[in-house]
Amino acid sequence: MKALVLSGGKGTRLRPITHTGAKQLVPVANKPILFYVLENIARAGIHDVGMIISPETGDEVRRMCGDGSRWGLAIRYILQMEPAGLAHCVKIARDYLGDDDFILYLGDNLIGGGVTGLIQRFRASNAKAAILLKQVSNPSDFGIAEISPSGKILRLVEKPPNPPSDLALVGVYVFSPAIHKAIEVIKPSRRGELEITDAIQQLVEWGEHVDSQILNHWWLDTGKKDDLLSANTVVLDEWIQPDIAGEVDKESRISGRVAIEAGARVVGSTIRGPVVVGAGAVIENSFIGPYTSIGRGVRIIRSVVEHSVILDNSEVREVDRLEDSLIGRSVVVAKGRRRPAAFRLMVGDDSVVEI
Ligand code: G1P
Repeated sequence: MKALVLSGGKGTRLRPITHTGAKQLVPVANKPILFYVLENIARAGIHDVGMIISPETGDEVRRMCGDGSRWGLAIRYILQMEPAGLAHCVKIARDYLGDDDFILYLGDNLIGGGVTGLIQRFRASNAKAAILLKQVSNPSDFGIAEISPSGKILRLVEKPPNPPSDLALVGVYVFSPAIHKAIEVIKPSRRGELEITDAIQQLVEWGEHVDSQILNHWWLDTGKKDDLLSANTVVLDEWIQPDIAGEVDKESRISGRVAIEAGARVVGSTIRGPVVVGAGAVIENSFIGPYTSIGRGVRIIRSVVEHSVILDNSEVREVDRLEDSLIGRSVVVAKGRRRPAAFRLMVGDDSVVEI
């Protein structure tokens, strides 16, 4: 089985949070979303990965992922000139995929629990495709599935105004080569794209068995502050192991699962995990509470920070309490003259906030 990872797009960034062009490279717990995707693929025992990239952000994606050997993968990059739909991505990867089964995985998709279960289900069911579903509260924004009690797909419809169910396609699919024939016959949708949802629906109409699995872990829907914060929380819970490679002085106290990368310094501070501190960060006379990600080169000086994400090279100085906050890159948050009790912030890159 191969993997096809979609990491294209024009680089509509998660405004105002990050200037990173590729949304697949937005960090959660100090690691780009795309890296979790590749880790899940490697864990499922897959080796060959085709990665769809765009002219706008392809170089950045290539620079970050390289040849994939870091994960024991072999990545081949495939350039998509225009964002013409998920099924179009499969079409241009046709030669690369050959007649192998493959997993199609949206590269900006962060899910808990991995993909091994879905692959096993696909193999056990002898289906032509198997798709991962998740209950959502806004079904009109997604591809939606109607399923039988055993999980067999009865009908799929892309972004329906009157959704027949609340089961959304999360963007992870396993296919047999039968999908290629379906992609050849479908027409572009109203938004002018070749929809993978329509191709799978075509398989259903041909009487083929399409199976599904409902994800009972979390799923990050990109782009909203609270989603990124809750993804950070869940990912810290699930992925962080205690690992103190940086320097911690004798006055500091570290408890719980805390990862401090090499080159970071903790001085006279208390850190209560789960917390991750990036390389080159400095934490001085501060308290860092649970569920906080401190990016590379960040400085936290005489402050209290809890349940927050601070991206690379930002500074928090003399802030009595910063919580539930998402701070972009190279931001300065520093105390002004008044002293309120707590702050909740969403601040983009290169900003200065005086509080
Ligand atoms: C795509 C798919 C849709 C799926 C969604 C998941 O939508 O077309 O079926 O539910 O990804 O994120 P898009 O993000 O292209 O609007």
